[in-house]
Amino acid sequence: MLAKFERYPLTFGLSPIEKLSRLSAHLGGGVELYAKREDCNSGLAFGGNKLRKLEYIVPDAIASGADTLVSIGGVQSNHTRMVAATAAKIGMKCRLVQESWVPHEDAVYDRVGNILMSRVMGAHVELVDEGFDIGIRASWENALADVKAKGGKPYAIPAGASVHKFGGLGYVGFAEEVRAQEEALGFTFDYIVVCTVTGSTHAGMVVGFAKDGRQRKVIGIDASATPAQTKAQVLDIAQKTSELVGGKDITADDIVLNEDYAYPVYGVPSKETIEAIRLSARLEGMMTDPVYEGKSMQGMIDLVRKGFFPAGSKVLYAHLGGVPAINGYSYTFRNG
Ligand SMILES: Cc1ncc(COP(=O)(O)O)c(C=O)c1O
Repeated sequence: MLAKFERYPLTFGLSPIEKLSRLSAHLGGGVELYAKREDCNSGLAFGGNKLRKLEYIVPDAIASGADTLVSIGGVQSNHTRMVAATAAKIGMKCRLVQESWVPHEDAVYDRVGNILMSRVMGAHVELVDEGFDIGIRASWENALADVKAKGGKPYAIPAGASVHKFGGLGYVGFAEEVRAQEEALGFTFDYIVVCTVTGSTHAGMVVGFAKDGRQRKVIGIDASATPAQTKAQVLDIAQKTSELVGGKDITADDIVLNEDYAYPVYGVPSKETIEAIRLSARLEGMMTDPVYEGKSMQGMIDLVRKGFFPAGSKVLYAHLGGVPAINGYSYTFRNG
């Protein structure tokens, strides 16, 4: 579906699929859980889902003659870390706006994890005191204008690389990759569980899996706590991406977004999220973060326990990365 689009390789290639045997057994053994390790997909600053998206955005950035990638996220944004790494790799400058999206206090929150790495990779990091919103932000537009005013040539990458004409392509590619891996494995997955916030990861998967009619088997677990806005953004990106790749028509019913696990708010883990992070770490040695993957892990575990997946189902958990942010939650995990 993507042959006509230019791709700048930032990842190692196929990301591995791993069986989560001990977690599956712990949850009764009726459902087989697997993880696709997007968190191990690259040598660029710990990798993650944004690199798959950026692979289709970088050729456009280079062709535009830009010299600076300009993006935005929360203080512990994984996305801005990935933009900083990409800028370093392709020899561009990087300007990042980091807003106060998370009402979380930890003494080192703005010094460790993602933001630490972005600074080390040479990005110009600007902290802005604005709350959570996945839409287009004035602070980001100001940064773009500022780069221009100083004689630079900015290239605009919105939050999560989502509301960008090529933002959905990477995860169309994910679906194609899973199909190829399924052939080698000799079975197909019945469900795919994905954490959803700015929307293009989920949207790309919907378009990619619509090819074999599995788009409603992509179970988005909302971590934004603003699910109406997130769902509308997923639908919009999916429809535009499908048109771009010549895919099937996508309707609102094709976007399955579970709203039950984002509480209390974006970026703040509930007691149950923390338990899920500990459970998958202790049974599988697989680390997840308190903002995104811990919430989708909690969702998957709870849905197994509730019997949402019929017995015998094979469920693929898309591990999208994000573990560096856990350093900003050092007090929460001070006793493990
Ligand atoms: C680790 C991680 N998981 C999930 C997501 C959600 O992906 P998306 O923003 O494409 O919905 C993000 C980014 O927002 C992320 O960094």
